[in-house]
Amino acid sequence: MTLVPGTVRPRRLRTTPALRRLVSEVRLHPADLVLPMFIKESLTEPAPLSGMPGVVQHTLESLLTAAEEAVAAGVGGLMLFGIPAHRDEIGSQADAPEGILNQAIRELHDRLGDSTVIMGDLCLDEFTSHGHCGVLDARGGVDNDATLERYAAMAVAQARAGAHVLGLSGMMDGQVRACREALDLAGYSDVVIMGYTAKYASAFYGPFREAVDSELQGDRRAYQQDPANGREALRELELDLAEGADIVMVKPGLPYLDVLAEVAASSPVPVWTYQVSGEYAMIEFAAAAGAIDRDRAIEESLIAFKRAGADAILTYWATEVAQRLTEAQRPTGAQRPTGAQNPTEVQRPTGAGQ
Ligand code: PBG
Repeated sequence: MTLVPGTVRPRRLRTTPALRRLVSEVRLHPADLVLPMFIKESLTEPAPLSGMPGVVQHTLESLLTAAEEAVAAGVGGLMLFGIPAHRDEIGSQADAPEGILNQAIRELHDRLGDSTVIMGDLCLDEFTSHGHCGVLDARGGVDNDATLERYAAMAVAQARAGAHVLGLSGMMDGQVRACREALDLAGYSDVVIMGYTAKYASAFYGPFREAVDSELQGDRRAYQQDPANGREALRELELDLAEGADIVMVKPGLPYLDVLAEVAASSPVPVWTYQVSGEYAMIEFAAAAGAIDRDRAIEESLIAFKRAGADAILTYWATEVAQRLTEAQRPTGAQRPTGAQNPTEVQRPTGAGQ
């Protein structure tokens, strides 16, 4: 059958790069990207991670340099994870003022002030000798309410160190309320709480466990969500909102796009997502094997989050992608400064008038 006059042709809007750009429904901006960073106590130089090519555990010095580079690239913020030299049952270093995470937050704040958004991961797993996200009860299970007291102390310690946003990633019931109350009582009512609303017990955290030298035996299925459950995420959302979360998070990203879309459709507060270590590794290793085009795969994965409704994305590629996006924004044609890199396909002048 040939198309008759008057037929609707969706392909018309895909004709040129400029048209495609004009009609794209969502786009990425450097400020949408948050860079997760690892700071490890008593390292003397940055340590590359075999499971995450291109990502390192930082020293304080390399952290500051990388943070400045990220800020110069225009990223929206930095999310810090700390790896202490000493761990114990209750994760004492998590709220110690000189604990590595709090120290790093303080140094970043001294260096960068309010020019970016400094965030601390608020969870005990990097600090406990058993690797669980909370303190254990007599039978070895994670004690929800005893853990809340530790989280509240961590919240105040991170706020005191200068964190703008706290990332509550532990999946304890009541964690948002416990931290909000502690912050307000301590005079930190401006500190923002980002609640990990839907955090699934996921195999895609694999490389992260290496990144934080995790001690965990077993899994986190008794507190993180079951991958089979989508509806439950909306219940978690309702609770986090009632407890005062300012921002909510869905994690991991790509395997949970449906959950992200549903949460985004019903949340009155910003919704973020976390493109986790395993998602990063899949693209890096597939690209290294020559199976996919790395840069396009990265961009496509990030745009998928925007399409599903994410307002911001935590991604280990934040600086690189922010730099690429900024580069692509450079004026084209005669206004382009000499020596600038070639414009990407999207910017290449097409047709008359150029
Ligand atoms: C726990 C935490 C994890 C990640 C971020 N925070 C791991 C886990 O829950 O086991 C994973 C992030 C990633 O995989 O990139 N505090």
